[in-house]
Amino acid sequence: MAKEARIIIEEKEYKFPVITGAEGEKAIDTRALRAETGYITYDEGYGNTGSCQSDVTFIDGEKGILRYRGYPIEELAEKSDFVETAYLIIYGELPTEAQLKGFSARLTRHAAVPVNMEHFFEGYPAHSHPMAILSGLMNSLTCFYPEYAANNHKEDLQNFDEVAAAALSKVRTIAAMSYRMSQGLPYIYPRRDLAYADNFLHMMFTEPYAKFVPPPEVSKALNLILLLHADHEQNCSTSTVRMVASSEANMLASVAAGICALWGPLHGGANMAVIKMLEAIHAEGDDGSTFINEVKSGEKRLMGFGHRVYKNYDPRAKIIARACETVLESLGVEDPLLDIARHLEKVALEDEYFVSRKLYPNVDFYSGIIMRAIGIPMNMFTVMFAIGRMPGWIANWKEVASHPNGRIYRPRQVYVGETTRTFVPRDKR
Ligand code: CMC
Repeated sequence: MAKEARIIIEEKEYKFPVITGAEGEKAIDTRALRAETGYITYDEGYGNTGSCQSDVTFIDGEKGILRYRGYPIEELAEKSDFVETAYLIIYGELPTEAQLKGFSARLTRHAAVPVNMEHFFEGYPAHSHPMAILSGLMNSLTCFYPEYAANNHKEDLQNFDEVAAAALSKVRTIAAMSYRMSQGLPYIYPRRDLAYADNFLHMMFTEPYAKFVPPPEVSKALNLILLLHADHEQNCSTSTVRMVASSEANMLASVAAGICALWGPLHGGANMAVIKMLEAIHAEGDDGSTFINEVKSGEKRLMGFGHRVYKNYDPRAKIIARACETVLESLGVEDPLLDIARHLEKVALEDEYFVSRKLYPNVDFYSGIIMRAIGIPMNMFTVMFAIGRMPGWIANWKEVASHPNGRIYRPRQVYVGETTRTFVPRDKR
């Protein structure tokens, strides 16, 4: 394997080191490029840019492989649950029994949000999007816990265990509160005796004075959804978290920015967009065939399909598609949208347009159907993604914060605007 890359610019040859990753990925280290040559690289959309070295998550998009800290997603999905996987992502190792107990206890301790925060919800209109509330309130936590927001990496790392638990636990509570507020329902406080996913379901759906017992298949499905979203290397929101963190911003501010980046329909907002798309197809009495033609002619986009990195089946989509069948069957739910989704997938996987572009279902294609089945309202879908992604954001924030030679993230640009102009007074324009 090459140890260096040679680049010839204006007849002059320059040598740059090659970095090889743990799984054999190769990168040309161009950090000295501009200083040595006066040139920068141009890579809009960052499709060929390695922005960091990370040991959290590995993806091989060509082969459809995803591993958290070296563990295949398929194995974690089968044998682990969200809290254990969150620990793995955040701390790098699977927890021992005692470590898991301690971590869960910390999450429980941090589950409630300051009671003053309830007043914030009163200020939002009932139709507010929960992603806006979630981002705003995650950042607002820094006002209540200034000791978690020194905006100094060294100091913030000293409180890392507490802030990480607060972020992971409170994101779920704020999410549930935003739903209750939108429904005009009283807030339900977290319970100490419930596990992470069940506590979320309790805060979402418990009726006052009633005892809530989530069906085991619902808890299992929710755990699976969260676990499958727990990290995904340098995606748009995680890169945003790292970008913000690189300015020495605290973890809560950084993840609040990640929530904003996740909201868009090309990223986490896709799970909502998929259901809207399937509902529209259903309302028109189409089985998906007309819609596929509209996608091929460029009028529409098949949401839940395609990925920047996967040029093969997204392994999360395979797991979630299987879970979709089981969950709907065990809950006795018949959803016509599942039939449309299956038909769209079948047609797309055989169609030249999708085959030649290597477009396969991604995690969002089936996740909305499961969430509908377990009673999560559609405008909370992206919020569920945000709760799930929190461990990945936390781990990536930590990597940036603990980098011994970390520098602020600051890309360059190729300026294409007007060159020097002379100011003309307003009455002469
Ligand atoms: N439907 C139809 N055509 C598509 C789609 C799609 N979903 N995705 C990509 N294409 C076409 C695109 O038009 C382009 O065609 P052409 O070469 O003729 O111009 C080609 O495939 C390459 O696409 P691209 O836009 O260069 O791909 P990208 O890597 O920039 O975008 C993506 C990746 C995920 C934003 C895109 O595939 C997409 O918009 N998918 C739908 C939204 C979606 O499901 N997003 C969730 C992603 S998974 C969850 C997450 O991690 O965020």
